[in-house]
Amino acid sequence: MSTVALFGTTFQNPILLAAGTAGFGRELDDVIDLDLLGGIVTKAVTPEPRQGHPALRVAEFRGGMLNAVGLANPGVTHVAEHELPWLAQRLRRARVIVNVAGARVGDYVQVIERLTPLEPIAAFEINASCPNTNAGGLEFGAEPRCLSELVRACREVSTRPLTVKLSPVLPDIPAMARVARDAGAEAVSLVNTIPGSLDRRLGNGSGGLSGPALLPIGVLATRRVREQVGMPVIGVGGVRTLSDAREYLAAGASLVAIGTAALADPRVPVRIARELMHG
Ligand SMILES: Cc1cc2nc3c(=O)[nH]c(=O)nc-3n(C[C@H](O)[C@H](O)[C@H](O)COP(=O)(O)O)c2cc1C
Repeated sequence: MSTVALFGTTFQNPILLAAGTAGFGRELDDVIDLDLLGGIVTKAVTPEPRQGHPALRVAEFRGGMLNAVGLANPGVTHVAEHELPWLAQRLRRARVIVNVAGARVGDYVQVIERLTPLEPIAAFEINASCPNTNAGGLEFGAEPRCLSELVRACREVSTRPLTVKLSPVLPDIPAMARVARDAGAEAVSLVNTIPGSLDRRLGNGSGGLSGPALLPIGVLATRRVREQVGMPVIGVGGVRTLSDAREYLAAGASLVAIGTAALADPRVPVRIARELMHG
């Protein structure tokens, strides 16, 4: 048995598709049975549709991948009217977590307020790595006051559980996890990508590093938060195999999300979920 009780619901296994790497699930539906997963984390949703950054948006290198997608998404109205109803109708057992992004606190609030009543949502994942335009572009999760203000505002407008996704390059991840918890978050998602750049390899100039190099970084962040704060963690970063997923679970993660490895081979998450359930 590998079911997980979290967010007031049950996940049939701990494996999720990570935010931004599976869209809203539709593109994968012909390739894998989404309903065999613990759940899917959607790509970031913002109030307005976003085109995202210019090409090239991804660049591979030996340690993993850089991406500069720029939060491309169809906007909250389209997500509410088309993507979430599709997921609700398609999924019976897999849970849905909606990733939310913005440039101001009001953007997150607008998305969460609009989507909260929709039936399939198990939780919102607040992407706290977005630049806060009211704080000179410093990311929300980098500073306790900004993070607290963001999470409190989201908490006030929603009855759904919240998980806060933090950057791996914060000097004190457990301290920021505590801030998130005290402001009303149920969990933290550890970790987001690491900022990086390779000469002329991305249209945006810089992007986020994901893939194998993140594994030990995310595992350490998970272990430290579990030891020092004790709140639930969704582990994410660098998982390619069953033993990688087990690293996060051994560090105390409740759920484990898979991104880059699933871009290379979409069957990886279902395979690991099966191995966990039967192994
Ligand atoms: C192409 C791409 C798009 C992503 N988009 C988002 C996003 O919209 N919101 C978010 O919180 N994280 C986003 N991420 C970060 C992933 O969810 C994950 O935290 C990160 O890639 C580390 O996991 P991995 O090594 O398994 O890919 C994205 C990552 C990639 C590679």
